[in-house]
Amino acid sequence: KFRIGSAVAGGGHHETMPYPDPFSADRPYRDRLAAEFSSVSPENQMKWEYIHPERDRYDFAAADAIVRFAQRNHQVVRGHTLLWHSQNPAWLEQGEFTADELRAILRDHVRTVVGRYQGRIQQWDVANEIFTETGELRTTDNIWLRELGPGIIADVFRWTHQADPHAELFFNDYGVESVNAKSDAYLALIQQLRAQGVPVHGFSAQAHLSTRYGFPADLEPNLKRFSALGLETAITELDVRMDLPDGGVPTAEQLTQQADYYRRTLTACLNVRGCDSFTIWGFTDKYSWVPVFFEGEGAATVMWEDFSRKPAYYALRSTL
Ligand code: XIL
Repeated sequence: KFRIGSAVAGGGHHETMPYPDPFSADRPYRDRLAAEFSSVSPENQMKWEYIHPERDRYDFAAADAIVRFAQRNHQVVRGHTLLWHSQNPAWLEQGEFTADELRAILRDHVRTVVGRYQGRIQQWDVANEIFTETGELRTTDNIWLRELGPGIIADVFRWTHQADPHAELFFNDYGVESVNAKSDAYLALIQQLRAQGVPVHGFSAQAHLSTRYGFPADLEPNLKRFSALGLETAITELDVRMDLPDGGVPTAEQLTQQADYYRRTLTACLNVRGCDSFTIWGFTDKYSWVPVFFEGEGAATVMWEDFSRKPAYYALRSTL
């Protein structure tokens, strides 16, 4: 079954999310999230800094609310994420733990978080953004790879599988839409892990696209080489940002180009066997991360701030 998803905005105490939690405060937002999508991804609410704010304390409130919402609305959930270099709490990054302690911390976290939602997560982004652009493992900024070495990757997949045997376990990254050094590195690593019997089931491309850099024209053949290994693939965080003209309002031409990128991304996924999950990173510009993170760029989602629909929305609709 093909799933079309959105990130669920929220994680309101973070300085980059300067609005009240839309998931609880914005009824029209919730209604559209329920009506338009068959999959949801917590944008921040399952990341370490949110769900595990102190060493001996978890905070499941926001993640629980999303999972309950999804069940009520017959949606699946993509879990995001377990092993990542970013958005880790200070107690972890600055904790000066021994390797044995860190291993135990990660194992307990996976058992606790994955175990809590066992049976209710369709796909987990187990490892997020572990390679650099040149295809090297991130051994400087990723605490797990730096302190525990690359062997931790197989461990985290095994622990996740033990905690939820039915979830599909993914590697997820940006900049892997095309055939390049980074996606090559994933292909090689996944082949190696599968040969060792490690439970890896999928490879996903975030697809944070920008009209500055052009459309990744080889997205489909790239995904197909993963699908040829018997893997699931997915588009997990699609948005298409653009340079905003003075005044901030995109031109008709820009909106047409954006719609084209959305349509081509969906078409590529639909053409790949096993690409059954297609998620956009938020559906309204009201709550997009893009203007906060990319100076001068914005308007990256399929709806305006008032939820009216852009050409990109209709492009997706007519392609499905
Ligand atoms: C982003 C969120 O959208 C922001 O709200 C947050 O402040 C930073 O992270 N790759 C990922 C996502 O895997 O988790 C990131 O989400 C965007 C890039």
